[in-house]
Amino acid sequence: MTYKISLITGDGIGPELSESAVSILNAINDKFDLKFEITKLSAGDKALEETGNALPENVIDTIKNSDVCLKAPVGESAADVIVVLRRILDLYANIRPAKSYPHMPALRDDIDMVIVRENTEDLYIGKEFSLGNSAVALRVISEDASKRIAKYAFETAKQRNSMKKVTCVHKSNVLRITDGLFVKACTEVSKDYPDITFEQMYVDACAMNLIRQPEQFDVIVTTNLFGDILSDESSQVVGGLGMAPAANLGDNFALFEPVHGAAFDIAGQNIANPSSFLLSIKMMLDWLGAKHNDPTCFEVAAKLESTIFDLVKSGIKTKDIGGDSTTSEFTKQITDNL
Ligand code: NAI
Repeated sequence: MTYKISLITGDGIGPELSESAVSILNAINDKFDLKFEITKLSAGDKALEETGNALPENVIDTIKNSDVCLKAPVGESAADVIVVLRRILDLYANIRPAKSYPHMPALRDDIDMVIVRENTEDLYIGKEFSLGNSAVALRVISEDASKRIAKYAFETAKQRNSMKKVTCVHKSNVLRITDGLFVKACTEVSKDYPDITFEQMYVDACAMNLIRQPEQFDVIVTTNLFGDILSDESSQVVGGLGMAPAANLGDNFALFEPVHGAAFDIAGQNIANPSSFLLSIKMMLDWLGAKHNDPTCFEVAAKLESTIFDLVKSGIKTKDIGGDSTTSEFTKQITDNL
């Protein structure tokens, strides 16, 4: 089948990762019975500088007319790009796996968990204002959005070949009304899943347990900001941001991007780890496979992941995970080995 991919090339290391992604997609085009039509799009800091708009209308239209969107990281304008796209495309579930790979400079090598982050509300609705000499931000948590993400988390736990456990992470001892509602919604949804273990944990305890005992987690479901923070932490437990992919999922559309940002500190040096973006492509392939009932997508997704796995196992790695391969060398090895 042929799929139309819109690709936001991003800022900082974004263009380097996008180049790597295009090489991999072209290699898949050549080697498998799967075709991609890629449209490159500019959104983020560069688009803001050039057009006065970080997310131009034509970019939104092109994304809406594609089958799926890939997004490299953008810079300081991230809130005007990704947070807006999540809302207008109703990409309510942000899925952030933390999975151990071999030979990582990681805290643990035996972890396989996923954070399911509510993606449309909380402090990310962006309603801030000044009140006298104070500043106020609105934190909105709704029952509908909480139940929707809880259901997604339980369905994820059901499908995973693991502990069958959902941990609801919150701070309802302080945020009694907002997080109180979130926990209540998750607890209600848990009753529809008697075969899945349900537990709750305060976010501060969760942050500590991700270091102390990360093996206790299977699926974490949490609100937007907590999910953002905890997923950077969980990625470090298994090897760092360079290995951390993410999916933003709605009922009809999806956008895939790395967990990390534009990493300006290493931009333009050809040393960024493209795995975060390539593993996001793996997640994209699984999503396309499920949506279009296309077994080739699943086959290529598994092949892409195992190729990355085997490569890092053989010691070919980028600098962030203890190797000396450049972004382009690492990418070339994957296209050759696919
Ligand atoms: P960051 O996630 O870009 O970088 C944090 C650290 O991880 C840096 O030391 C960086 O070099 C390293 N790192 C990240 N990705 C890497 C990779 N693929 N390979 C090797 N090392 C990698 O976080 P930071 O520095 O706080 O943010 C930089 C910019 O990114 C900011 O302007 C921020 O607004 C933006 N941002 C954008 C996001 C998005 O587009 N979704 C998400 C988070 C931040």
